Amino acid sequence: MGDLVTAFAPGRVNLIGEHTDYNEGLALPFAITEGVTVVAEATGDRRVRVHAVDLGAHDDFDLDRIERAPGWRAFARGAAAELTATGARLVGARLRITGTVPRGSGLSSSAALEVALCLALLALAHEDPPPDIELARLCSRVENEWVGAQTGLLDQVASLCGEPERALRVDFRSLEVSPVPLELGDWSLVTLDSGESHANAGDAENGYNRRRAECREACEALGVDSLRDVTPEMAAGLPWPLRGRAEHVISDNERVEQTIGALAERDLRAVGELLNASHASLRDCFEISTDAVEAAVERLRDAGASGARLVGGGFGGHVLGLFPPDARPPEDALEVEPGPGAHLR
Ligand code: GLA
Repeated sequence: MGDLVTAFAPGRVNLIGEHTDYNEGLALPFAITEGVTVVAEATGDRRVRVHAVDLGAHDDFDLDRIERAPGWRAFARGAAAELTATGARLVGARLRITGTVPRGSGLSSSAALEVALCLALLALAHEDPPPDIELARLCSRVENEWVGAQTGLLDQVASLCGEPERALRVDFRSLEVSPVPLELGDWSLVTLDSGESHANAGDAENGYNRRRAECREACEALGVDSLRDVTPEMAAGLPWPLRGRAEHVISDNERVEQTIGALAERDLRAVGELLNASHASLRDCFEISTDAVEAAVERLRDAGASGARLVGGGFGGHVLGLFPPDARPPEDALEVEPGPGAHLR
């Protein structure tokens, strides 16, 4: 048997600051304890054989001639190709992938998979991983150029930099990551499945990629490089839907700072109100909610959540709820807690 390494990378929940990452804005994610595990064994040849256990599916490719493949196969191929392009001297491997993050849930199963694959492939080759932000960028190239989703850096940064009991204030302009204590006491954060699977990948017409293009269009119309430079007065002059897109980003950036302030004062009711305001903005200005998402948010609020909102790319997936000690989340909700970032086991 050859060398054997095990890498784990977590999914994430974004407390607040949605669709701000690719607009050089602010977000407040945390890594969750659910994630993806990749066990890698050296085979002594130049092939990579991948077994996606949960899918019951296999892939097999040559490290010296990596061809593209659709769907889940794009991840290992993209990770190997992008690592090789940075000069890493990878070795042939047998990879076994298992996961506890529901796929298509908006909890970042994709980023967890990219990060775990990269850590495992590098460790097997006895190569040191690059600094977190560089590795996050590399993983996002896998997602953008191999998987076909024009996503930002939020998920990869959260998966790599996560810390127990902390959320992360991420400034996507400076790429500064600052841990923020997430002290919930008897309160709890839960996610609830809307029952609608979402996908950020696919053709340019999918909702996520279209929103990203609209944000770019808003910048072009205003002659700025990013929505971080746009004031409410500037946004007010844009035609719909660009105005709504810009207004959402501006206001969610502010809500990130307000949430950090409320957490510092242990005012969790105020955090709940900010989650509700973020959801309203995502629904009405960014227009990425659906009937199923609304129903899931309502279920959380009916159960006593003091705040609830959609998380991640939108158009389905899980929703997030903040519950006070005296309220009981629905039975099928999943309690989420900040856990450690990606690591070798
Ligand atoms: C998805 C993307 C992230 C981010 C969020 C929305 O999770 O992968 O880059 O844009 O949507 O905040």
